[in-house]
Amino acid sequence: MSKKVLLTGDRPTGPLHIGHYFGSLINRKALETDYESYILIADIQALTDNWEQPEKVRANVYEVAADNLALGIDPEKTTLYIQSQIPQIAELTVLYSNLVTVNTLRRNPTVKAEIAQKKELFGADGESVTYGFLGYPISQAADITHVRADIVPVGEDQLPMIEQTREIIEKFHRIYNTEIFPFPQAKLSQAPRILGLDGNAKMSKSLNNAIYLKDSAEETEAKIKVATTDSETTVGYNPEKRPEVSNLVLIYALAKGMTPEQAIGELGQINYSTFKPLLAKALNEHLAPLRERRIEIVSKPGYTAEILSAGRERAIKKAEETMNLVRKAMKIDY
Ligand code: TRP
Repeated sequence: MSKKVLLTGDRPTGPLHIGHYFGSLINRKALETDYESYILIADIQALTDNWEQPEKVRANVYEVAADNLALGIDPEKTTLYIQSQIPQIAELTVLYSNLVTVNTLRRNPTVKAEIAQKKELFGADGESVTYGFLGYPISQAADITHVRADIVPVGEDQLPMIEQTREIIEKFHRIYNTEIFPFPQAKLSQAPRILGLDGNAKMSKSLNNAIYLKDSAEETEAKIKVATTDSETTVGYNPEKRPEVSNLVLIYALAKGMTPEQAIGELGQINYSTFKPLLAKALNEHLAPLRERRIEIVSKPGYTAEILSAGRERAIKKAEETMNLVRKAMKIDY
């Protein structure tokens, strides 16, 4: 029996942070032996809302590649590659675009929320949204299907993309009278969501509230030192009432491999100034092997580029198999 296929992707808009790490990176490392695994660095998707910053996207392709390798994924087992290097993805995007209505794209909850957030790019009411951005769920369906993926490890915000992919597959099968694709399943991480160090729902560079995998131990300590707490004096875990402090306790617990309740039990009634250095120490210890590997990886000239190039070869081979099936079904196999 051949293995089932796993595909996931990262947008290279910044280096990966501990939210990505505890939320999904740990998962993909754990799954790589059970599946034929593909990790795609979605530079074309990143350009749909960063088309004016190609240098930023390019730089972050290498950051994200290094983060994934630092995690310890085995490049022999997992195919790591850059989306723009697989022309078949662009080709599938065009072919699928007949199967998706503009209204369906407009109603996609994730796309809708992103358009609302990006007023400077897309206008106050989204009136200037581009064809490319509105259509990125189609491109993501092409990402998922060019390797005929069975499972897609993602966060909750990506469920509408997987649902859209399943709809495209259903329509494709029905119209072209074929069954070439598996219906991909989302695999949600069990890890609870990590907030920014300021309690914001998202860790992000622009909010300056993220701890990156590539940060040094000192940078990590400095960021934790200024992390938002509350007007109480001792730590506690109550995500509803005390989101900021509970988030710090959660990070401590994840770093120590325990539950937040166990962490509170272990910590007892300690004040913030005692807790914060303990948190920094726990997180730094947890990330130390990864950070050492990362430094080694980026210091080897050409190492990451070589892996991405081997990944490209493997992904193209798989994508061409898919294209043969697709072209035949669509009667464009001249
Ligand atoms: N949209 C995903 C994100 O923002 C990234 C991504 C691109 C992806 N292509 C994918 C995820 C394919 C899963 C499968 O995180």
